[in-house]
Amino acid sequence: MKNASNPGRSHTTRVLCAVAASAALALVSACGSDTPSGDATGGATGGATGGNAAKGPSGTITYAGNTVQVGATIDVGDRLIEMFEAAYPDIKVERVEVPNDTDTIRSTLTTEISAGAGPDVYSGDMIWPAQFAAAGLAAPLSDYLSDDYFDTFAPGLIEGATYQGKVYSAPWYTDNGHLFYRADLLEKHGLEVPKTWDELIEASNTIVAAGDAKYGYVFQAASYEGGTCSFVELLADTKAKVLNDAGDASSLDSAEGVAALELMKKLVDSGASPAAVSTFQESEATNLFAGGEAVFMRNWGGLWGTVQDEESSKVVGKVGIAPMPGVDGIGYSSTGGWGLYLNPNSENVDAAIAFIEFVTSTEAQLMTATEFAMIPTVTSARNDPAAAENNPVMAVAPDVKFISRPANTPVYPAVSEALYTNMNAAMTGSVTPADAIKAASQQIDTALSGAGL
Ligand code: GLC
Repeated sequence: MKNASNPGRSHTTRVLCAVAASAALALVSACGSDTPSGDATGGATGGATGGNAAKGPSGTITYAGNTVQVGATIDVGDRLIEMFEAAYPDIKVERVEVPNDTDTIRSTLTTEISAGAGPDVYSGDMIWPAQFAAAGLAAPLSDYLSDDYFDTFAPGLIEGATYQGKVYSAPWYTDNGHLFYRADLLEKHGLEVPKTWDELIEASNTIVAAGDAKYGYVFQAASYEGGTCSFVELLADTKAKVLNDAGDASSLDSAEGVAALELMKKLVDSGASPAAVSTFQESEATNLFAGGEAVFMRNWGGLWGTVQDEESSKVVGKVGIAPMPGVDGIGYSSTGGWGLYLNPNSENVDAAIAFIEFVTSTEAQLMTATEFAMIPTVTSARNDPAAAENNPVMAVAPDVKFISRPANTPVYPAVSEALYTNMNAAMTGSVTPADAIKAASQQIDTALSGAGL
């Protein structure tokens, strides 16, 4: 499996269309010149078997969704569309390719939707509801779906998808930050899975000094959203707070905030992590770890399948997954994940809603859990033993301490940018941790002061 958490790389069929502002009504025709691959059979079969076609929604919708792959060819979006079209023979879903990181997906969708176009349904990060709702980039799903539907999700997920009393995203899969480790190398050196950063540094240095791996610990410290995820884990660990309790001002400029950034730098200065982590997103860390070059990796649980994929990984069967280490014992995991959003420009809302409901049905969620090792969002699939069987990530969950990003504000992109740019500046050595924290704190205050305007 590839890219459960670093969406969009590889083989989907078409790029998001560049649509002119005047093309609001031309979604399908503007985008529809390429035929999505692999759907001819699904369409034909669906057409042949379908009953009561006249009553339900019909027509064509476009879907821009993350790529999660098994091996080179099987993609979760294609599988879901195949299942959906078989169940809804009167609806065709055309797949639209998405870029490969959350910030780029957000800016592409923002441009398209603001211009009156964009895909009918898109998968979006779980940190987007406030911003997308406030900017009119997402339609409220709760205008179309009942409380009974939202009650099917695991506790807390719908709360995170809600802005000013309306739900804007149907949670599709969840992701948590985890420590991936080389079980074979720890065993060889008689070492336990590290629970603290000091243990991780020591184990890294021991194993690298013995020549058993090139790097100790790889993680994401590039200047992008994933850098914020790594940083908030350490901030929680050193007991720093990004915002005050009211959520209207920064609390970052503190000894605890500086300690978090010093700790992140120490991972590099101690020799445990390569200096290049300041350029790493999810895929750089994954490539090194799956290539057998690193002992430890911080990454999303959703990448478990990639690490266990015979076609792309050299460490299949040699890897374990654990909660993140901390200063004094188990540390914090950022909560991540993706949901399905409805484009307010959609001209086929009934079909779009049918697709969203289907992807979050028990049937579809069990398929994504068992075939793609994705963590389900609906309680029925989460509790199904078949989902857990294929998902060591789910087994670790009870020990994980979660930390959320402060995304419940429309200005979250600016808050996050303040965090990741200044974190990254300290990691590259261009400013001290103390100066970076001060600058981040001021920029967060500036961002929040504009939030209510
Ligand atoms: C993963 C997470 C998402 C997060 C992103 C950061 O895709 O699911 O929530 O924002 O990584 O790179």
